This record gives sequence, structure tokens and C-alpha cells, in this order.
Amino acid sequence: MPKATPSRNPNPSDPPARPLRWGMVATGTIARKFVQDLHASGVGTAVAVGSRDLGRAQEFARTWGVPRAYGSYAEVAQDPEVEAVYVATPHSFHFADALECLRNRKAVLCEKPLTLDLDQATRLFAAAEDHGVFLMEALWTFFLPAMDQARQWLRDGAIGEVTLIEAHFGFSSRFDPQSRLFDPQLGGGALLDVGVYTVALAQAVAGLRPPRIKASARKAPTGVDETTSILLDWSSGVRAQLTCSVVHDLGDRARIYGTRGTITLPEFWRAPTAILETAQGTTTFHDKRTTLGYEGEARAVADHLAAGRREDPLVSKAFSLRLATTLDAVRKQIRVTYPSPQVKPAMVRGSSTSSTSAGESSLLAKIRSRIDRS
Ligand SMILES: NC(=O)c1ccc[n+]([C@@H]2O[C@H](COP(=O)([O-])OP(=O)(O)OC[C@H]3O[C@@H](n4cnc5c(N)ncnc54)[C@H](OP(=O)(O)O)[C@@H]3O)[C@@H](O)[C@H]2O)c1
Repeated sequence: MPKATPSRNPNPSDPPARPLRWGMVATGTIARKFVQDLHASGVGTAVAVGSRDLGRAQEFARTWGVPRAYGSYAEVAQDPEVEAVYVATPHSFHFADALECLRNRKAVLCEKPLTLDLDQATRLFAAAEDHGVFLMEALWTFFLPAMDQARQWLRDGAIGEVTLIEAHFGFSSRFDPQSRLFDPQLGGGALLDVGVYTVALAQAVAGLRPPRIKASARKAPTGVDETTSILLDWSSGVRAQLTCSVVHDLGDRARIYGTRGTITLPEFWRAPTAILETAQGTTTFHDKRTTLGYEGEARAVADHLAAGRREDPLVSKAFSLRLATTLDAVRKQIRVTYPSPQVKPAMVRGSSTSSTSAGESSLLAKIRSRIDRS
């Protein structure tokens, strides 16, 4: 939450000038939650949905009132009415699915983690730049009103100088080698599923300079991390202590400690409240939203597209690339590797090729050299 970040939702209840027309890539858990909030809030409307299975797409379309259902994701990317695509496949397919949409000049909001690693993330941003389209990682937490409030307190210096950030995100699930939480083919593990939120929060508070990193993990039988502990240490003196797990309920509290007080965010990833404690007393902000909260990120995409912007000021290209860099470094320390990047057959069929175009290659080189210098 850098001090320079402007307030994101000056008036969150204002409807956008026109609901953005969305295409849905996949029909799983998060796709259903997103479309529910999209339609309930009126900030957008889903006009097409794609699934690996046409029947599932039709069922989703019937349930959520989506006019067109496709038996592939590529058809969503090619639908001329679609302005922005929400990519909601398992992590290991984000790269191929988002790339296909960018190459069809669709704005993309891609679920977290944006990709499996920094290399893929860099390639996606190069493609977005080459095709002149918007791309954002769906870090919805940062678009919630309680996060806006926490940012405001930090900007106002309400807790003095930040010294320590603590964040935990974990839930208890039964080991299933085939589930996306444990299967390395699907990018399984706690770090990429929920640890990404803790690292993103720490980075949002401490800034984009690289931290020193120490991490350790307990592994699941499939080789992915079931619980990971991370210590981040910035030259500014800020430290972060983070834990994530897919086998333990960790309570999910985040707390930002400063020289004059603390900000606490219970269940920080969905941020129902934000609590400021200082010597002057306690102030609690309650989010009275009636939705799950996914409309905030959808509204941001609509606002940015209407204003001709290609990125969000906080969840920016630089933010996602730094996040991917840190996640890669943690994964290296905990020795979690994934099979080589996959390009899903459903995506490639009848779609543009997966090889990098000349424009993407030259932008890729530029972005990589900027990362090397940072
Ligand atoms: N922002 C959040 O709060 C939040 C919460 C949960 C998850 N997520 C993210 O969203 C992504 C999806 O998570 P989810 O919980 O929605 O997963 P999910 O319920 O398993 O749904 C994933 C969907 O992806 C499609 N898919 C394509 N290839 C697949 C494969 N080989 N195996 C399984 N599914 C495949 C399927 O849709 P079709 O069958 O229709 O093709 C499936 O329904 C993940 O990257 C996760 O990190 C975000």
C-alpha cells in the first residue's frame, strides 16, 4: 500500500457508465463467484462462457443468464462482443489461456497467481504491450473497501513508520493427489494458492524493492508445499513474517505494525473489517457490502478501459512481476518445481499459435532488461 497510491474507489457505489461485456474462461468455483458479483453489482455483464465441455458451458450460461456458451476457451477469446476476459482455470493454464485472449486483443483479468513463474508473467506482459491491451492479475483483495481504508491510514501516517508485517492464510483440506491444490501438473501447493496473497500484501505495504528472502516448507506426498513459512526483509528496515497452508486453518489475520500503532485485517484476503489501534484509541472500519467482493476488481478493469489505461496503479505490471520474482525465489528455496509449462490442447485448437511473435519478442527483451536492472 504505497503512500503514493491514490484512493481506488472514490465512490464505490457509483455504477460505471456502461457495464463492461465479459467473457468467462472456465466454469469452476471462482468463475461462479465472479459472475455472481458481476451481475449483482451491475458493473459488468458476462456475454459468453467457455468450458472444455460444451454441456458445462451451457449449464453455466443457463444458471447465470449468459447469452452464449462455447465448448472451448478459444471461442470466448474470438467472440467479437467480448471486451474483457476473466481467466479462471487452474494456475498452470493461466499463461496459455490469457495469452490466447491477449492475442485476440481482449483485455484480460487473470486469476492469481498470474502465471506459474516470472518467465511466463514476463511473456504475458510483453504480449499485452505488443497487442496494446490491458492485463491485470486478479488480486481482488486490493480492491476491497477495507483495504482502501488501510491504505488511507498508512498514507496519513496513522501508525507511524511501518516496521513489521504479519500475514497468515491457510485452510484445512484433505490430501487428494488429483486436486488442483496438490497436483504439481496443476500448479498445486500452498504458496501459489494462498501464499501469493500474503506476499502480495507485504509487498503492497513495503514497496517493490527486492527483499531478502528466507523460506521453508513441509511438503505433501506429491512434492508440492502443503505449508510454507516465509521471512522477507527489506533494506528499508521493514520485515514480513508470512505463513500459508492448504492443510491447516491459520486464521488468516494480517497485522501491520508501526512505530505508533497497528492495523489489523481479520481474514485479510476477503477483508470484512480493518482495525486501527493507536495510543488515541481503536477505530474499526466495517465493510457493509452485500456481495462477496469480486465486483471491485471488475469495476477497476471497466474504469481503466473507459479511461484508456493499460494497467492499474497498484496491481500493475511492476507489481505482478515483483510478486512473481519473489514467489520464484521462495519456490527455489523450498525446492518445489512444476512440470514444464503446458499449452492446453483445447486452447491451441483453432487458435493462434503459442510461439512468440516478433513484436512480443522485442518487448520481452525490454521487460527482461528492466527486471534485471531493478
Ligand atoms: N480470487 C479468489 O478468491 C480465488 C479463489 C479460488 C481460486 N482462485 C484461482 O482461480 C483459479 C481456479 O480456481 P477454482 O477454485 O475456481 O478451481 P476449480 O473449481 O477447480 O475450477 C477450475 C476450472 O478450470 C477449468 N479447467 C481447465 N483445465 C482443467 C484441468 N486440467 N483440471 C481442472 N480444471 C480445469 C475447469 O473448467 P471447465 O471444465 O469449464 O473447462 C474448472 O472448472 C486458480 O488459479 C485459483 O488460484 C481464486
